[in-house]
Amino acid sequence: MTTQQKQGQELRFPADFAWGAATSAYQVEGAAFEDGRGTSIWDTFARQPGRVVNGENADVAADHYHRYRDDVGLMARLGLGAYRFSVSWPRVQPDGAGAVNRRGLDFYSRLVDELLGQGIDPWVTLYHWDLPQALEDAGGWPERDTALRFADYAAAVHDALGDRVRNWATVNEPWCAAFLGYASGEHAPGRREPALAVRAAHHLLLGHGLAMAAMRARRPDSRIGGCVNLYAVSALSRSPEDLDAARRVDGLQNRLFLDALLRGEYPADVLADLGEPGGLAAEGDMEIISAPMDMLLINYYSRFTVSGTSGGAVSAAAAPTGTGSPWVGSEHVSFAESGRPVTGMGWEIDHDGLREVLLRVARDYPGIPLVVSENGAAFDDAPDADGFVRDPERRDYIEAHLRACHAAITDGVPLVGYFAWSLLDNFEWAWGYGKRFGLVRVDYPTQRRVPKESALWYAETIRRGGLTG
Ligand code: NOJ
Repeated sequence: MTTQQKQGQELRFPADFAWGAATSAYQVEGAAFEDGRGTSIWDTFARQPGRVVNGENADVAADHYHRYRDDVGLMARLGLGAYRFSVSWPRVQPDGAGAVNRRGLDFYSRLVDELLGQGIDPWVTLYHWDLPQALEDAGGWPERDTALRFADYAAAVHDALGDRVRNWATVNEPWCAAFLGYASGEHAPGRREPALAVRAAHHLLLGHGLAMAAMRARRPDSRIGGCVNLYAVSALSRSPEDLDAARRVDGLQNRLFLDALLRGEYPADVLADLGEPGGLAAEGDMEIISAPMDMLLINYYSRFTVSGTSGGAVSAAAAPTGTGSPWVGSEHVSFAESGRPVTGMGWEIDHDGLREVLLRVARDYPGIPLVVSENGAAFDDAPDADGFVRDPERRDYIEAHLRACHAAITDGVPLVGYFAWSLLDNFEWAWGYGKRFGLVRVDYPTQRRVPKESALWYAETIRRGGLTG
């Protein structure tokens, strides 16, 4: 990587920095019943009453499956250098195992060709939460077999795209898939069995390692990483209770995954907090999980300020909601308001937290290139008569976080890319379509796309290769 230079008032990023935007299959594709796609746990979950706000689902979503050519054209007009998207496992293997569905894979092959034709680097995520329902029926991520199936699926996708795709993310945010899916039940499959959530986390990590090994065996030049959601965590005060609450939350959110992936061990204090009885990892698992990655993908949105309570139950109202919602396996932690401004998700805005997270990973787990693979914000957008959205809050959010990235690079962090979440407004999981994260507005009744002010600003930033002043 070339070193960044300050030129006058310009904060320049490295010349080969990946400037991107991200989406995921279930959130944007739609076409839920086409070309042999199977059913995923999110199809099932969204149909259960009370799971998703207004009973919404992603059968149509942003209709990206049909509009991908225009969407890639839009990306090119914005000057994106990279596009991170995920492959839908049930499009490729409708039942999660066995023969591949060629028509499903062909969609991604066409998408990759379209991107490359426009000079946009495809970054493929293999698992962004849409587990084939058949695998959940067989026990889901708490079952070891799911990790083995995932490696087969990864190999099939890599066989089809590995000649043209260099950058691969295995599993997106295993914390969310495990703890929101199997402990709090806020996400599919909606189970509330905390003991199984820990097993799910282990098998998601094992799936990561097995998939990476399968892809490496095929093409050693693929660049592969796991993708974790990390938070800055602060104690509300210096009291022993608050400091311990911060240790617990940091442990479950951050260290559990970082230590497994980058040190080959689970932190003993976190396993103790979880009441994990042992026997989580079979012989050899931790070596598979911690095999060297080419990069670590980090999704960053917010800081948690936490306090310890003396035995009282955590008030549900005190906990942040959505994918940032923590489940800490403990009644001794509560989530405090720090007074910082919040996004439309109610998540505290703290760009310094991103710098802190990047510096911490670079210090505690040195030697691995880092990527901010998601960062962005939902706000209550108000379109004008032409559908144009002036969204200075979103622009400010992204700008402040990019400044934090630049500061981290200046401090020596090997940060190689930044992906805004999201390219398009999309289906925000349990929140449905009401929460809009897009740089580009999607008018769902017409599927018209209108770049927001933040998109135009981001395009200009990419064009300049950095920020002013
Ligand atoms: C993380 C997830 O990967 C993505 O799917 C989600 O939409 C964003 N965070 C915002 O919640």
